[in-house]
Amino acid sequence: MDSRDVPAPSGRRDVAVLVPAAGMGLRLGGGTPKALRELAGEPLLVHACRRIAQAPSVAMIVIAAPPAEVAAVRELVPGATVVPGGATRQQSVAAALAAVPATVDIVLVHDAARALTPPDLVESVAAAVRSGLAAVVPALPVVDTVKRVDAAECVLETVDRTPLRVIQTPQGFRRETLVLAHAQAVDEHTDDAGMVERLGHKVHTIPGSDLALKITRPVDLLIAQALLAASHPS
Ligand code: C5P
Repeated sequence: MDSRDVPAPSGRRDVAVLVPAAGMGLRLGGGTPKALRELAGEPLLVHACRRIAQAPSVAMIVIAAPPAEVAAVRELVPGATVVPGGATRQQSVAAALAAVPATVDIVLVHDAARALTPPDLVESVAAAVRSGLAAVVPALPVVDTVKRVDAAECVLETVDRTPLRVIQTPQGFRRETLVLAHAQAVDEHTDDAGMVERLGHKVHTIPGSDLALKITRPVDLLIAQALLAASHPS
């Protein structure tokens, strides 16, 4: 499904992956925190962490869990460090970042909701940061026509989609870049690279993956089930 060149493992386990998983997932419905919703009998968070752990560079996983579910998440993902998440995604990432030892230089941030993200993508992001880039995000081209609308939902213009990209996670950073971005953030951002852009730092893209889709709406769960079934035909 992907044509990405996967780097040879560096032989180093020098990467911490932060997993914000404290969202309620209101768009998905169901009443359970989204990361704990099941896909093929297992919580999305477990799917996500299993794939992260398969990336050879990953030394530690830090999960920001719904505060009421910290103990349950510790049992679900025994090898991970689990901290209570915050009221926003950004606060959850900050809480997880605070639990990373100062010796770790490369930090990735990966949404639990992107449960089927392949280990290869985690490894590619880590390798790009290790090669010297301060901030790296997976990106896909926009396939739909994009229009800008006004408050009454009337079309104002058609936007040229050629230079537009859909951005996924994991997003990778030099630790000091991410720490600085969080320390200086004044408003809420929907991703971590957005904060780094605000600092005026360059954010590089690498090819994303169809499997890294964000499970947000009920239809995304159906798509994820189909993708899983296609990768494990019975
Ligand atoms: O709400 P959204 O889909 O953008 O959430 C993206 C990720 O951030 C999800 O994995 C969600 O669990 C997480 N999140 C969080 N803390 C919040 C809100 C969202 O960890 N307060």
